[in-house]
Amino acid sequence: MKFSFIKSIGLLTAMSAAVFGQAIAQSTVLTVNAEKPGAAIQPTMWGIFFEDINFAADGGIYAELVKNRSFEFTQPLMGWKDESKDGAKGAILIVNEQATRPSNPRYAHISWNAAQGTYTLTNEGFRGMGIRKDIQYNFSVWAKAPEGDVKLKFELLNASGASIGGTAVTISGSDWKKHTASFKASATEPKGKLRITFEGKGTLDADMISLFPADTWKNRPEGLRADLVQWLADLKPGFIRFPGGCIVEGYELATRYQWKKTVGNVEDRQLIINRWNTEFKHRPAPDYFQSFGLGFFEYFQLAEDIGAEPLPIINCGMACQFNSSEVVPLDQLDPYLQDALDLIEFANGGTDTRWGKLRADMGHPAPFDMKMMGVGNEQWGEQYIDRLKVFAKTIKAKYPQIKLITSAGPFPDGELFDYLNPRLRDLHIDFIDEHYYRSPEWFLTNAKRYDSYDRNGPKIFAGEYAGHTQRKVDPDKKNNWESALAEAAFMTGLERNADIVQMASYAPLFAHVEGWQWAPDLIWFDNVQSFGTPNYYVQKLFSTNRGTHIIPVTAANKPLAGENGIYASAVMDSKTREVIIKVVNTGEKEATIDILVSGAKNVSAAGTLSVLKSASPEDINTLDDPFHIKPTEQAISLKSRKLKTVLPAASVTVIRVKAL
Ligand code: AHR
Repeated sequence: MKFSFIKSIGLLTAMSAAVFGQAIAQSTVLTVNAEKPGAAIQPTMWGIFFEDINFAADGGIYAELVKNRSFEFTQPLMGWKDESKDGAKGAILIVNEQATRPSNPRYAHISWNAAQGTYTLTNEGFRGMGIRKDIQYNFSVWAKAPEGDVKLKFELLNASGASIGGTAVTISGSDWKKHTASFKASATEPKGKLRITFEGKGTLDADMISLFPADTWKNRPEGLRADLVQWLADLKPGFIRFPGGCIVEGYELATRYQWKKTVGNVEDRQLIINRWNTEFKHRPAPDYFQSFGLGFFEYFQLAEDIGAEPLPIINCGMACQFNSSEVVPLDQLDPYLQDALDLIEFANGGTDTRWGKLRADMGHPAPFDMKMMGVGNEQWGEQYIDRLKVFAKTIKAKYPQIKLITSAGPFPDGELFDYLNPRLRDLHIDFIDEHYYRSPEWFLTNAKRYDSYDRNGPKIFAGEYAGHTQRKVDPDKKNNWESALAEAAFMTGLERNADIVQMASYAPLFAHVEGWQWAPDLIWFDNVQSFGTPNYYVQKLFSTNRGTHIIPVTAANKPLAGENGIYASAVMDSKTREVIIKVVNTGEKEATIDILVSGAKNVSAAGTLSVLKSASPEDINTLDDPFHIKPTEQAISLKSRKLKTVLPAASVTVIRVKAL
């Protein structure tokens, strides 16, 4: 034990020394040439990757507080508990009407006699329920009471079991009906639970027992957690990729993501296991399922809300190759191809089409104007190329304008990558999706990766990346400053090559502090709070300073990509007429640089400078210290187009100056 502890410290120190490299010896002159804007930077350049991993959807951004609301988990009463007192008796029978209700077969038949005591059921929520004082909560249940009216009391309890708000509902009639009621919470509680008290004697059939806060994103009923969506909106992302990730593929084909089962009435969306339920032995999540309350309609709506291009990824007849490797025979791909075509109709079709009409019925008659689609997630091998060819031919024949995103496999190099890369290029595919979960050193070394890429081939989508400070799957892989700084250095390379790298997204996006399976992640949350990691602020500095065109930034006539530990890129914003320079100092000492803005007729003397820095590579943000690392902004003045600036040790600096 002691040995491995010492070993891991040693490893960390060696890695940190590599990232926090040698200090710059003397002042460097960085010349930014505003005269000749180069290639356009696509509005899609910096985007986000959403996958329902780490409780990102159920238990996260989807604001439903009741876990297993429709009794469809493998263990139908998971999350529910009989907490009756004083001898009250009750029983729950789980009825399965598979033949008549195939997408939501189960419901609870509850009977009780509470002549003495109180018969109560509680729901524990997702690692508790996050309740906030003075917020309205909307309760609903689909129910029928064929044997006579019954009265139910609903209460929220705090962690000590005291009531912090509630209401009552009378259920009557022998037909299924949605009953609703609202109340305000009297206290804030991150670990609340719901208690249902059944009065008197009676029987009831109940399904979709649900509780949402009213103050969801845009106050949409039964919608998304507003605080979590706000983090996304603040990034001003160019695109949102959804629904993943491996979740697209499924552990096996039966658990792949099928978008058609995620649209329409929420009670008719068929729940399935979440593949991350069982994926990692060190982080089991037996209560992780996909209710699809956040389904494809909601993903498109979210994209529209935050101004991002929607980028759905579809299954191409292949399950996860790390798991079952199941494939659909080539001559049986039709249903999968049809799903792809129908998705385009759902997103873009007229309301006179079958799927366009469903979109309109769900509240969005206007098309979502989807422009691109991914075929498969991290697929590889001949089997992928074979299926991709069929998908590309079919989709392009009907929708030639839809850009296709294709997989370069799970790794940025090696046998799988080397097999796919030339073949995708031969197919003249639109985008190659490269993934790199790599060490901070890898990101530094690869800041030049795209400088020598083929300029005439497919465009690159850096679809999933994150600096991993440990190699193995380990809770110690932190969102620390070391990883964020290395990502920033690498991103200057993406920006410099924005003519071919036209989209990039950090992954994964969200993680619940108790419910996570994979780390690091961009944004962390518990049931009531959330925080952005240092990696988040790096993403934000790039995405909110995107610009419209690349401009050259050189030191001694060469791009600055690691010399003396410094990395730089620059863009012009042709709308605001600003030059935006990003400089990353990975050295462990501050560096003084002179920035010269050449080319433009007039360069303003005033500008702004934002800095993101931290003293130690191990520094992190936490729920208790959410802004330990965050950017600061200050005004700057240039003299004769020149700015002398000190780059703090281990820092990211963004400078904006008007240049007309
Ligand atoms: O981002 C987590 C996982 O990493 C994704 O699901 C998968 O595409 C990759 O392997």
